[in-house]
Amino acid sequence: MNKFDTNKLKKIAVFTSGGDAPGMNAAIRATVRMAIYKNLEVFGIYQGYQGMLDNQIEPLNLGSMANVIQRGGTVLKAGRCQNFLKPEFRKIAAQNLKVQGIDGLICIGGDGSFRGAKALWDEHQIPIVGVPGTIDNDINGSEYTIGFDTAVNTAMEAIDKIRDTAASHDRLFIVEVMGRNTGYIAIEVGLAGGAEEVIFPENPFNLEKVINKIQHGIDRGKKSSILVTAEGDKPGYAYDLAEQLKQKANFDAKVCILGHVQRGGSPTALDRMIASRLAAQAVLSLLDGNCNHMIALQGTSYVNVSFDEAIQKKPFTYKGLLDLVDILSQ
Ligand code: F6P
Repeated sequence: MNKFDTNKLKKIAVFTSGGDAPGMNAAIRATVRMAIYKNLEVFGIYQGYQGMLDNQIEPLNLGSMANVIQRGGTVLKAGRCQNFLKPEFRKIAAQNLKVQGIDGLICIGGDGSFRGAKALWDEHQIPIVGVPGTIDNDINGSEYTIGFDTAVNTAMEAIDKIRDTAASHDRLFIVEVMGRNTGYIAIEVGLAGGAEEVIFPENPFNLEKVINKIQHGIDRGKKSSILVTAEGDKPGYAYDLAEQLKQKANFDAKVCILGHVQRGGSPTALDRMIASRLAAQAVLSLLDGNCNHMIALQGTSYVNVSFDEAIQKKPFTYKGLLDLVDILSQ
């Protein structure tokens, strides 16, 4: 975390970056309205870092944020900008911000977005505070990221529906959920959805164990089972798994890939509430002269965590839940 001189902090801008997440609109709204309450001018940058390069920067006011808190997606749009990985493009972005007179930023996004934010501070001393927003819940230093609860609930509702048809046909289903290189969504959905097994990148895959678990269920009279797998770095991995189960144990599994449906929808109350608190705190922290950090949720506190720490790999703290999934689905 760094300090900067807040004397000339008059205009700030907010943007959403990376994959969208339900609750981002609540975070934008809280940023805009807290900033105006504190007598700042606020701008919105559209399309994330790409919009910074293309000057897609518009003033926002209290009315711009009417009726957005309940909407999924992000009204500022989002994206992953490959050019921003290059210093020459970051220089253009910094120049555009200076021309507009913008002297502080609120970045709502994930670890890739925070890498860009850190580079903007390191190279051009543009003060930025981050707000962790991604359905994956994989930002180091924060126990929660905006969108996670909505995504988990969407996937769990899908599993409840799959359970109906699985039970009607006595079938084995593999449900693939999102989570790039992480199993936070998978394990919560597996536990809440009563799955027999959860497969995710942080845990070594053991085909024998999965087969034994399914067979144990069949032996005790179970007619249908549900496996949840994270997509990891290979969306569609569930099909490989189905093939392995067929080859090794002659199990016929149906596959359901939930995909981007998990990124949409109206945010849950939890997502709206945490998004509002994180973003309001981000504006206050910027006004206190803090930058190069994100606001993180730790326990019940909203604390500052440096971008340096936030971009490290988050340790997987849910591993113990796998035992519970096993016990509760015997
Ligand atoms: O990071 C959020 C996430 O939804 C991951 O769970 C998923 O692997 C990835 O984004 C998909 O990205 P895209 O929308 O660019 O295909």
